[in-house]
Amino acid sequence: MNKKVIVTGGAGFIGSHTVLALHQAGFTPIVVDNFCNSSKSVLSQLEKVTGSPVALHEVDCCSLSAMQEVISREKEGLFGVIHFAAHKAVGASVAKPLEYYRNNVGSLVSVLQAMNASQVSRLVFSSSCTVYGQPDQLPVTERSPLKAAESPYGRTKQFCEEIISDQVASGASLRAVTLRYFNPVGAHESSLIGELPLGPPENLIPYITQTAVGIRKELTVFGNDYDTPDGTCIRDYIHVVDLAEAHVKALEFIERKKEPAFNEFFNVGTGRGSSVLEVISAFEAVSGKKLNYKIGARREGDVVQTYADVTHCEKEFAWSARRSMSDAMRDAYNWQLTLGK
Ligand code: NAD
Ligand code: WQD
Repeated sequence: MNKKVIVTGGAGFIGSHTVLALHQAGFTPIVVDNFCNSSKSVLSQLEKVTGSPVALHEVDCCSLSAMQEVISREKEGLFGVIHFAAHKAVGASVAKPLEYYRNNVGSLVSVLQAMNASQVSRLVFSSSCTVYGQPDQLPVTERSPLKAAESPYGRTKQFCEEIISDQVASGASLRAVTLRYFNPVGAHESSLIGELPLGPPENLIPYITQTAVGIRKELTVFGNDYDTPDGTCIRDYIHVVDLAEAHVKALEFIERKKEPAFNEFFNVGTGRGSSVLEVISAFEAVSGKKLNYKIGARREGDVVQTYADVTHCEKEFAWSARRSMSDAMRDAYNWQLTLGK
């Protein structure tokens, strides 16, 4: 039997792509999701790609008893857990901080307790480049200092990283990889899964694709007077399928590493920065559409520029991002066109 991997948040944007990457690598993904930010239809889409049923536990990961039940039912052949389940909207976290602390910190604590009770030791945790804030030096390495977070969301990621390290320090058998994602974009090449933002998107790429198909009137570029070559902010945009594949590499890394307890941090990005205007022109080139956009005011809390040093990942995972910005724009646009049908 294939090795089973519990994927909390497996119906979400990054989780669903990781379910496919796990399947392709010969693992059996087990989705745990309460669909608070996803749709059950994702499961049937996943099944179309894999050609086989995808196991699901519809459960709130904050519930310790529910997580204990899931892990004890799946214990036979269980290789590890990838914990994606969290709320991720920066703006909403400012308006409703307690919901973010309860869900993001609470779900991690329950997952760790349930793993500990069943002696499941392998964990991959979803963190974010947001833990670095505005970095002093570029590219950002895993040793760059963590700055005060810009939002309660960012703080939940910083807390979660420390909680995992505290659990390791306690002597518990926990072998964890914490992945700090830069900006995940794009969609699966099949256009069967992708990002499903509810309401007006906060993130750049879904805002671009929704503008291109007329759901939004125009895109506002948040500031063009920054100290960057074209005046707009710079990010490290990584294709979500490349990011998903990095999770498989992380599991394999944990298996190879012999220490009984650790929490090792990895940046996951492309190592390249792109400005907002560069993203827009990449989108226009692949879609053949002129995007309706205007230059607006700066957005409060925006980091001016950040991109990852990915040497740790490349060395330890023997992995690097293979897909280009054009690939990401093409796949995001095709996904948006599919949604409209
Ligand atoms: P998403 O909202 O698309 O997916 C999260 C999934 O988790 C959803 O299916 C949701 O229903 C589920 N979920 C949330 N809380 C749950 C709970 N208590 N119990 C069960 N299921 C629950 O988000 P995503 O973009 O796929 O992000 C996945 C992870 O990656 C999150 O931890 C997020 O913070 C992190 N991350 C995302 C980004 C990004 O830009 N998308 C960047 C860095 C880090
Ligand atoms: C990208 C660039 C905007 C929208 C967020 C979270 C971070 C992480 C990734 C989870 C910025 C500009 C955007 C628009 C614009 N998520 N922009 N007009 O801000 O890098 O990070 O997602 O961990 O925590 O904060 O991503 O996609 O919102 O913005 O000009 O309508 O696009 O100013 O420069 P960001 P983003």
